[in-house]
Amino acid sequence: MTTAVIGLGNIGATVARNLANGGMEIIVADRTLAKAESLAAELGNAVSASAVDDAIGKADVIILAVYLDAIKELIASHQASLAGKVVVDPSNPIAPDGKGGFRKTIPDAQSSGQLITGLLPDGAKLVKAFGTLSAGSLAQAANRTPERAVLFYATDYPEAGRTVAALIEAGGFSPVAIGGVDQSIRIEVGGDLHEMGKVGRLVSAKEAEALVGSETS
Ligand SMILES: NC(=O)c1ccc[n+]([C@@H]2O[C@H](COP(=O)([O-])OP(=O)(O)OC[C@H]3O[C@@H](n4cnc5c(N)ncnc54)[C@H](OP(=O)(O)O)[C@@H]3O)[C@@H](O)[C@H]2O)c1
Repeated sequence: MTTAVIGLGNIGATVARNLANGGMEIIVADRTLAKAESLAAELGNAVSASAVDDAIGKADVIILAVYLDAIKELIASHQASLAGKVVVDPSNPIAPDGKGGFRKTIPDAQSSGQLITGLLPDGAKLVKAFGTLSAGSLAQAANRTPERAVLFYATDYPEAGRTVAALIEAGGFSPVAIGGVDQSIRIEVGGDLHEMGKVGRLVSAKEAEALVGSETS
């Protein structure tokens, strides 16, 4: 199983670092090959740098660690090579509001997970994951002791969910499933299970169990 991380900014570089520290072999890609090569050199032999097209073509699991508009563009231009693959979406549909805060860029009741799943080619399986914490928490809380912190995920495909759960585990977190993609809004920013939402903090697997069952949306 080959995993590619596309987009090596705050979230992508952190996910790549956590996976490499957990011994996973991954491909990294960004808009420029130089950025990917630089991260691969830092992370060692298990990490290789590729152009975006090659990385999407080679990998079975593709983590699209870019903003929603860029995700839409990448999906539109890679329909054939994404068919049948596991696509991981960490996006939060927000943009600066011009007053020092953020505003949601899609209707309040909609999630980017639902929006993205509708854009994927036949057979591609969406897993919403890796976007529930800030990049800082994702870096600092990896392999937290004594109890690991949780990363929630949502998917309509149990096998794809298990694949991503194994990545979450390798990256130093406890994976907790919350249900199908129609539940994505709960783990996007502002959602009741998001660090920047009602829960407002990192949780352990024990706490997560009660939280997941506490609300239906
Ligand atoms: N930052 C957080 O704390 C956080 C938390 C949870 C979820 N998220 C979500 O994670 C995603 C990434 O956020 P981020 O903060 O990591 O963004 P970021 O720091 O801006 O990083 C995005 C990276 O992707 C690259 N990129 C943009 N378009 C690309 C394309 N078409 N092909 C390949 N690479 C491309 C960018 O390159 P350039 O620099 O050249 O544009 C940049 O290196 C977003 O959907 C965001 O909502 C972020």
